[in-house]
Amino acid sequence: MLEKVKDLLHEVENFTPKSEKEVEEFRLDFLGKKGCLSELFAAFKDAPNESKKAFGKAINTLKQNAQAKVEAYKGSFETEEKGEGIDLSRPVSLDNLGSRHPISLIRNEIVDIFNRIGFTISEGPEIEDDWHNFSALNTPKEHPARDMQDTFFIQTNPDILLRSHTSTVQVRYMNENKPPIRTISPGRVYRNEAISARAHCLFHQVEGLYVDENVSFADLKQCLLYFAKEMFGEKTKIRLRPSYFPFTEPSAEVDVSCNICSGKGCNVCKNTGYLEILGCGMADPNVLENCGIDSKKYSGFAFGMGIERIAMLKYGVNDLRLFFENDVRFLKQFSSL
Ligand code: PHE
Repeated sequence: MLEKVKDLLHEVENFTPKSEKEVEEFRLDFLGKKGCLSELFAAFKDAPNESKKAFGKAINTLKQNAQAKVEAYKGSFETEEKGEGIDLSRPVSLDNLGSRHPISLIRNEIVDIFNRIGFTISEGPEIEDDWHNFSALNTPKEHPARDMQDTFFIQTNPDILLRSHTSTVQVRYMNENKPPIRTISPGRVYRNEAISARAHCLFHQVEGLYVDENVSFADLKQCLLYFAKEMFGEKTKIRLRPSYFPFTEPSAEVDVSCNICSGKGCNVCKNTGYLEILGCGMADPNVLENCGIDSKKYSGFAFGMGIERIAMLKYGVNDLRLFFENDVRFLKQFSSL
């Protein structure tokens, strides 16, 4: 009998539970009604008188040790599982820190570049009316240039639409501010386009507007050259090609020298050495007048660029859809750029 108690004492000593469940099992095995201590106390009554003293002492020690073990471990797992007992001084794990979206990074960079030469930021609504998106911009109803931008209209009211370009903010800004005007307007625009590697039904633009006395095409060119160099590097060249927009006259499309092959020609620039980045031109006098600005006294220029396009060129991303899928494995690559 005494041997058996010694073995059990050993067992108690070595008991190191790993869960609350194990503590409870241990308690039932030793201290429960059907546990081994009940049996031992029952056996004690029938033990021969000469061994009673040693036996009694041994089973009392066993009981005390078993109780001490249960006391020591009971509840210690429970608090951990409930989230109590968290070590508040532990350093934060940096694994899951978020990062800025590449479109926000490029937007901020564009805004910064123009802020440095005195442009302020302005914004307008994404749900617009016909006047701000088309008519005020010298694009009256039935004008064929309306087809240039596949616009989303509201079915029950064709006067309401999702703006198809940020040029709407030009109109709003000129209505509310007198020249000199120097403003850029970043924001979302919508077009009913099939989604592909190069087009999306939702994308971002930054509009630029400069109106003052004696603003010339040379000012426009110089302003855009400054922007291209700040954005793509000092060696960047720009090229202007004649184009057409109803709200600017003359109009141009602007290309920058390919920053991947430095203008030598590669498959990104389709061996032309240049990539298109924006549309621009001198503000049409009709637009100035529509917005209450005297076109005899003032002239101006405007430009509009796609943020996704600039981001694709700058980061070497070849599929525009990646910007909208928001896969964190893609997004987190830009945080340290
Ligand atoms: N709004 C034109 C577009 O979305 C871009 C543009 C803006 C062109 C300003 C000229 C002047 O295509």
